[in-house]
Amino acid sequence: MIQKQTIIETIQKRKSVRTFEPRGLTEQDFQRIEDYLQQPENLLGFMGGEVKLQIIQVTAGVTNKGIKLGTYGFIKNPQAYIVGISENSPWAMVEFGYIFEKMVLFLTEMNIGTCWLGGTFTRTSFEQEINLRGDEVVPCITPIGYPRDKQRLLFDKTLRYVVKADRKKEWEDLYYADSFATKLTKEAADWAATPLDMVRLAPSASNKQPWRVVMSADSKQVHFYLAHTPGYTKENASYDIQRVDMGIAFCHFELACKAANLTGTWKINAPIVAIPDTHTEYVASWELEDDQF
Ligand SMILES: Cc1cc2nc3c(=O)[nH]c(=O)nc-3n(C[C@H](O)[C@H](O)[C@H](O)COP(=O)(O)O)c2cc1C
Repeated sequence: MIQKQTIIETIQKRKSVRTFEPRGLTEQDFQRIEDYLQQPENLLGFMGGEVKLQIIQVTAGVTNKGIKLGTYGFIKNPQAYIVGISENSPWAMVEFGYIFEKMVLFLTEMNIGTCWLGGTFTRTSFEQEINLRGDEVVPCITPIGYPRDKQRLLFDKTLRYVVKADRKKEWEDLYYADSFATKLTKEAADWAATPLDMVRLAPSASNKQPWRVVMSADSKQVHFYLAHTPGYTKENASYDIQRVDMGIAFCHFELACKAANLTGTWKINAPIVAIPDTHTEYVASWELEDDQF
């Protein structure tokens, strides 16, 4: 379990780590991670969907089963990988993002580095290792290990520059009041200001930050939309990685609400809001419980 009081700090601290120390995980840390991956509640989405999470240890790029995993992009010295396994449906991708990010934050709290990988890995090697069922896919994996102190190695820096990792969108690019015509100020966001700030800090594929939010006029509902990046998801791709980004945002939003003792529920109940363009799609809403005003 992630500690309530530290979740904000954990979200603020998390960054994709691509350079790890060459030493392996301690037995104790490995055991804690395995325990986490086995708890059914940690594998459950916010709408009841389930995923499987499996840890695969690697030594010099080779798994215990002898499968060579190869090197992925800029990842250096991974000590293990956590592989996420999901059903293949549009909604399952959202739930996957939520569950996998919760795990990423748990690992961040343990000072273990992670980097979501959705594109740059050889799926077939991992799929051999885990015996995938016909209806299952591996949307993403993460390498894990202790972050190398000197993260700012040249290639790390270069990659962060290429994907504009440090460039998080501003409030006015993401959040709206009542309709997409009016920007939402932090003051007007009131109870949702911190949870929305935590959404801004979330990781997303190629740092596209596709989440958009419209707060209802009575301030009780927060409607989340996905602003698809045109041309980003390949036409023949079996799933949409930007739906995973939405689940990540829901995870940050919900955990930040919980930390502030704000209770609410997720609903799929599209409001009557004019959508700005054909790339923008409604996904889900958070509704604050009535007695909290
Ligand atoms: C669904 C998803 C897929 C990603 N896939 C990759 C990937 O294939 N390779 C990679 O180097 N980074 C990948 N990333 C990491 C993003 O580039 C990173 O989250 C973003 O640049 C923001 O940087 P930060 O995580 O340090 O805040 C992915 C992130 C997400 C959420």
